[in-house]
Amino acid sequence: MMFREMNESDLAQVLTIERNAYSHPWTEGNFKDSLVGSDEVWLLELDGEVVGHGVISAAVGEAHLLNICVARQHHRKGLGRAILEFVIERAKQLGATVMFLEVRESNTSAIALYLAEGFRTIGSRKNYYPFGSEREHAVVMSLSID
Ligand SMILES: CC(C)(COP(=O)(O)OP(=O)(O)OC[C@H]1O[C@@H](n2cnc3c(N)ncnc32)[C@H](O)[C@@H]1OP(=O)(O)O)[C@@H](O)C(=O)NCCC(=O)NCCS
Repeated sequence: MMFREMNESDLAQVLTIERNAYSHPWTEGNFKDSLVGSDEVWLLELDGEVVGHGVISAAVGEAHLLNICVARQHHRKGLGRAILEFVIERAKQLGATVMFLEVRESNTSAIALYLAEGFRTIGSRKNYYPFGSEREHAVVMSLSID
């Protein structure tokens, strides 16, 4: 198992993982924005193959988990947990003492992962995400990482 930072040549593979694993995938533009901006995009490789990714943004003592995704065929093998624990360590190295995230309230697998890793729910953002022709609330969670 190895982590490395994403570069633009990984885009096609990362987008395939994202689109196969997630009902509301990030777009190519989302990843490009993260790559040129100050976010960190980390890839998890297993036997030389990219199997998942995690995206964080960290500044002024706060980190935000912007994305985490594992290839569908590798779900429930502990890889999501491994990515989450890795980006938490990175956030600490970047000086963050707290990590925040937002997650669709219907995303029970991701919420289960976050709760298992110690995140707690601190609020919600009403009608935050598009959901077909309607909207869906975001659950806002945080974890103290100092
Ligand atoms: C959320 C996601 C990253 C989890 O990755 P994963 O590799 O399958 O998760 P793990 O195997 O590391 O699971 C760790 C723990 O999280 C919880 N968990 C993960 N998936 C779960 C599920 N489908 N149902 C219930 N609990 C789940 C469990 O507590 C699990 O521990 P356990 O297997 O010992 O019971 C993965 O489902 C995914 O890529 N989803 C699509 C993208 C997405 O929704 N990202 C979050 C956007 S905010």
